[in-house]
Amino acid sequence: MSACNLVNKDSANDNLHFTFTEHIAPIIYKNCSPCHRPGSGAPFDLITFEDVKEHLKTVQLTINERLMPPWPADTAYSHFRDEKVMTKEEIFAVNKWIEEGAVEGDNSKLPSPPVFYSGSLLGKPDLTLKMKPYKISGDNKDNFIMLKIPFELEKDTFIRAIEIIPGNKKLVHHINAHLIQYSAGAKKNYSSGKPFVDTEKSDKLHAFEALELKNDDGTYPLLTPSVTNYLPGVETAMYPQGIGGFKAKKNGAILLDNIHYGPSPIDTSDETEFNIFFAPKAPARPTTEFILGTSGISPVVPTLIIPPNEVKTFVTRFKVDSDISLLTVNPHMHLLGKKFVAYGITPGNDTLHLIRINNWDFRWQYFYTFEKMMKIPAGTEIVVEGTFDNTVNNPLNPFNPPRTVSEREGSMRTTDEMFQLICTFLPYQSGDENISLKAK
Ligand code: HEC
Repeated sequence: MSACNLVNKDSANDNLHFTFTEHIAPIIYKNCSPCHRPGSGAPFDLITFEDVKEHLKTVQLTINERLMPPWPADTAYSHFRDEKVMTKEEIFAVNKWIEEGAVEGDNSKLPSPPVFYSGSLLGKPDLTLKMKPYKISGDNKDNFIMLKIPFELEKDTFIRAIEIIPGNKKLVHHINAHLIQYSAGAKKNYSSGKPFVDTEKSDKLHAFEALELKNDDGTYPLLTPSVTNYLPGVETAMYPQGIGGFKAKKNGAILLDNIHYGPSPIDTSDETEFNIFFAPKAPARPTTEFILGTSGISPVVPTLIIPPNEVKTFVTRFKVDSDISLLTVNPHMHLLGKKFVAYGITPGNDTLHLIRINNWDFRWQYFYTFEKMMKIPAGTEIVVEGTFDNTVNNPLNPFNPPRTVSEREGSMRTTDEMFQLICTFLPYQSGDENISLKAK
């Protein structure tokens, strides 16, 4: 939208004159309502004139400070599809409208509000699975749980994406999910087993036993790893038809290995949902992931130990050995994270900008999908630099006074640190750099 379109040329005098119904509603619908609506994560709705009027001061403040809509990636560095960033013209219009007294305007000009499918950011799922309610006790401790959510489909089915909708948005810190697949007749009672296993008290193998994952003959079923995951603020990356996705056998289970709940001071519970989107056929181009940094394929240098009262930068590097097409990047740090930058240096010494976050925000850990596939030529070194602030100046520092915080093998506690870049990619095919990744 350009500034000229926003100007009401018919007004009696030449003054700019903005009204909610004509100029502001479309801006709010586009930039705020996708989250600020009933059944979504935001604390209040922003759809109607009344909604916006009620929160006018904070709406203006968060827009001007670029806090809302939330988009930590630096758009001066690289671009992604569906950027949640307002244009200068939109910001100008909101400010001008407020200065002019935030007038409602003629109701006949009000565009119809956007229609959202409640309970999903991607649209209407083909199937929704819900986990059994898990009780979280108010003991201020982290909970790490493994569980399976068995399902039976009509037949073997291709799945395009699985979206996780956390039940308790405040406490669900992360979820990693795999798919367990049973061959026909391999397991009679595939929903047997304990509903939940505390993975702090039980190693993986014992947890698998307790969940009774095995086939009836004692062998393990097929496991498709990392079919979906969740981090605060995450939106599931769904690609155009034919890119990404996997096959699910008729009988199976979503295996959460694991789900991490942050500490709670009160007794509460969680009932997370899984929206499943089917695909008509096998993906022509299935995607794969690699992880740089913590628990990944490249070491963090120096070792991720952040002494108290220090701001410290770490690096992880990885050389790509064949041409790939990069689709999505997901930077990950915890509460001490401050800055994050990832780029590639090609054999010809070109720099490929991947992502830069100047003010790390733990609450918004998107999977950033490029507008088009990004070719990373063989021999490119991907370099990731992360800066952590372990001083009292970091308001999110979990310790006061600050203490040494480090990466601990296998620990994903918020009070330990992590430094990762997760990359979703495909083997490169000629012309990939022209393929749009807007989901259709
Ligand atoms: C991606 C989802 C999303 C979008 C888009 C979004 N918000 Fe928010 N907003 C949230 C969530 C979630 C919160 C709750 C607080 C938090 O976690 O930061 C919030 C909080 C707020 C707050 C309260 C902040 C405070 O500190 O009291 C305001 C005001 C706000 N949003 C305004 C807006 C406006 C205006 C827009 C559009 C220009 C917008 N938001 C777009 C998700 C969103």
